[in-house]
Amino acid sequence: MEQKPLAELLDLSGKAAIVTGGAMGIGFAIASRLAEAGAKVLVADKDAAAAEAAAAKIGAVAFGADVSDEAQVEAMVAKAAEELGGVDVLVNNAGIYPVKPTLDSTKEDFEKILHTNLMGAFFAAKAAAKRMIAQGRGGTIINITSIDALHPSFVGLAFYDASKHGLWGFTKNLALELAPHNIRVNAIAPGGVATPGTGMGKVSADFLAKIPMHRMADADEIGKVALFLASDMASYMTGSQVVVDGGTLLA
Ligand SMILES: NC(=O)c1ccc[n+]([C@@H]2O[C@H](COP(=O)([O-])OP(=O)(O)OC[C@H]3O[C@@H](n4cnc5c(N)ncnc54)[C@H](O)[C@@H]3O)[C@@H](O)[C@H]2O)c1
Repeated sequence: MEQKPLAELLDLSGKAAIVTGGAMGIGFAIASRLAEAGAKVLVADKDAAAAEAAAAKIGAVAFGADVSDEAQVEAMVAKAAEELGGVDVLVNNAGIYPVKPTLDSTKEDFEKILHTNLMGAFFAAKAAAKRMIAQGRGGTIINITSIDALHPSFVGLAFYDASKHGLWGFTKNLALELAPHNIRVNAIAPGGVATPGTGMGKVSADFLAKIPMHRMADADEIGKVALFLASDMASYMTGSQVVVDGGTLLA
């Protein structure tokens, strides 16, 4: 097999990428690195104004879409195909993590988390993979799971943990289904990351003490791994979950 130079391996020129929940936090960090690598990026977010502002910073296209609504997700993929010339990379990043004890929770609480974190990834993967197959040039799907896909972080996240365990199972089976089409499907499982959703990492000293590296991740530390998985650096990786947690799962 011909050995490509490093710069070419990481070059996403000519590729089109969608990042859900791309307006801030981990999603924006991923969108920024994909754009820097030359991809045309669609920043999709349920907060349309925040998506516009984020997209403007990195020369991307913005789209307002709630991933829990299949029609909006289909419109998102159609928009990418029209404006970016196709879909080569999909990052299912949009996710919510409300903390509430299970015994105080309702069916609606559970449904909201599942519809966003799990069903949303299905809607987007289905619509994007159909495009990728029609294009005939392969593609890559990256699902942002969590270390909670493997081990619970703390009480109050039972529905979140169910959604992320589910997303990891979904990742593996979809990788099997799409491998014949040269579409790679992988997951990234972050530990604690400083984002708007986590108060930019303002957590207690006790929480930090449990992380072997004694700090939260910067969102770009997830963005860099997403770029790796989206690129030809990871050309033989599918059905993998890359843990990026400063050693948290070891502790
Ligand atoms: N921050 C962490 O410590 C951490 C750790 C592990 C996994 N994760 C996962 O990473 C992802 C991003 O987390 P974050 O901390 O950057 O979140 P965040 O709350 O800082 O930002 C999330 C973004 O997603 C958007 N969003 C939320 N629901 C949406 C929906 N239904 N449709 C479209 N967009 C939606 C929000 O508007 C926001 O722009 C989530 O899937 C989360 O579970 C985060």
